[in-house]
Amino acid sequence: MGSGKTHNILFDEDATMSPLPRDSLDDSLSATRKAVADMLEQRNPTYSLPQPFYNDPRLFQVDMEEIFEKQWLFAGMSCEIPAKGNYFKLEVGSNSIIILRGAENKIHAFHNVCRHRGSRLCLKDKGKVAKLVCPYHQWTYELDGRLLFAGSDMGDDFDMSAFGLKPVAVKSAGGFVFINLSENPEPIDDFLVSLEHYLSPYDMDNVKVAVESNIVERCNWKLVIENNRECYHCSGSHPELLNSLIEFDDTDDPRSTGEYRDLVARKQADWTACEVPWQLARFGKRNRLTRTPLLDGIVSMTLDGKPGCNKLMGNIPNADMGSLRILHLPNSWNHFMGDHAVVFRVLPLGPQETLVTTKWLVHKDAVEGVDYDPARLRQVWDATNEQDRRLAEENQLGINSLAYQPGPYSQTYEFGVIDFVNWYSETMRENLGVPASTPLQVASQ
Ligand code: FES
Ligand SMILES: [Fe+2]
Repeated sequence: MGSGKTHNILFDEDATMSPLPRDSLDDSLSATRKAVADMLEQRNPTYSLPQPFYNDPRLFQVDMEEIFEKQWLFAGMSCEIPAKGNYFKLEVGSNSIIILRGAENKIHAFHNVCRHRGSRLCLKDKGKVAKLVCPYHQWTYELDGRLLFAGSDMGDDFDMSAFGLKPVAVKSAGGFVFINLSENPEPIDDFLVSLEHYLSPYDMDNVKVAVESNIVERCNWKLVIENNRECYHCSGSHPELLNSLIEFDDTDDPRSTGEYRDLVARKQADWTACEVPWQLARFGKRNRLTRTPLLDGIVSMTLDGKPGCNKLMGNIPNADMGSLRILHLPNSWNHFMGDHAVVFRVLPLGPQETLVTTKWLVHKDAVEGVDYDPARLRQVWDATNEQDRRLAEENQLGINSLAYQPGPYSQTYEFGVIDFVNWYSETMRENLGVPASTPLQVASQ
C-alpha cells in the first residue's frame, strides 16, 4: 500500500489484502460444519460428545444456526401476555424476538428489528403497548406487524406495505408458546394436540406466573439438558427434590421396583377416575409427556410435600396429581402438579454460558400471602437449580481440560441422556444435509 492511493479492502482492485474478511468467515464456518458432520458420524452413540461440542465458539455458531434457528423453541406461557398489547421479548443468540398479543386474542411473533435501519424496537423484557414504536426515528407498527407510520419524507412512492415487521412462526397450545425462526418450520401439531389434551384440566387461560427466576450457568446448553435428563446424580446432590420426586422415569425404567409399579397402578386408577390424562406419549425423541406419582403421601414439590398453593389449578379435583412431566427438546422441561406448575426454559448465551429461566405457575385467582407464599413455593427448585448449576459448571470445567475424552453413559441410569444426545446428533446431521439413511456408527472403544 505504498502507492499513496487510498485503499479500500473491499473494493480497491489493487488491494493485496486477501481473502476478503467475509469470505474467510464463510470458509471457516463451512469447514466447521464439515467437521461437525464428520465428528457426529464417527461418534459412539452411547458416549458423551467430543470436546468441541461443549466449548468451541465456531461449533456454538453451528448449534445456533442448525438447532436454535431451525427447531421449535419454548418461548414462554400465553398467560404472560393476557391482554391485547401485552408482549414479552426473548433473545435467541443474536436474534431478538417479540411475542405479542394482538387483536382478537391472536398471538404474534416478530423479529425485534425495525425495517428502517434495523434498530431494536422493544427494549424492555416485557410490557404493554398500543403500537410498536421504534425508539430511533419513530417508525410505528400495528400489533399485527404492519407499518403504519414512517414520517412524511420517505417520498410519495414509498410502499409502506413492503416494510412490515418480519414475522416469526409461532404456535400456542396448552398455555405454552413455541416459536420457530426457520422459514420452513418442521411440523409439530401432533405434539401440540397432545399438549392441549394433557393441559386441559389445568385451564391454562386462568393461570399466572407467581414467581420467576433467571440464572446464568457457566456451561454449554447441552450440559444443562444432559444434566436434566438423568437422575443418576439426584441421590448425591438433591436432598430437597428427593423429598417429593421418585427417581424412576416410568414403569419401563430399568430400576423400577414392584412397590413403585404398585404405586403407579394405584395412582393411575385414581387419575383415570378423575379423567386426568397420565399416559406416556412420545413424539420422536423431541417430546415426551407422562404423569408419574410423587412419593406416596406427598402431593407437591415443596419441602414438606404439602401443597404450595391452597387454590388448586384449573379444574383439578384434588391435589394428589403426581407430576405431569413434559419434555420439549431442545430447550424445556416441566412439572405440573395439582396445586402449581414449574416450567423451565433454556437459552444459550455463549459456548459456555446458558440462561435457565424457571417460572412457578398458580391459579390466576390464587392470592399471594393468602393462598401461597412465593418464597415457600420456589424453595425446592431454587435449591435444585443451584445444585444443578454447580454440577453442570464443574462438568464444563472438566471437559475443558486436555484430559477430557468422551465417556460412556450408563444404559440403566442415563438412557434419557443417550436419547437427548442422539436427538441432537440426528437433528444436526439432518440439518447439515448428511443423508438420513447414513447410520450412526458405533466406534470400537
Ligand atoms: S431504525 Fe427504526 S425508525 Fe429508524
Ligand atoms: Fe439435577
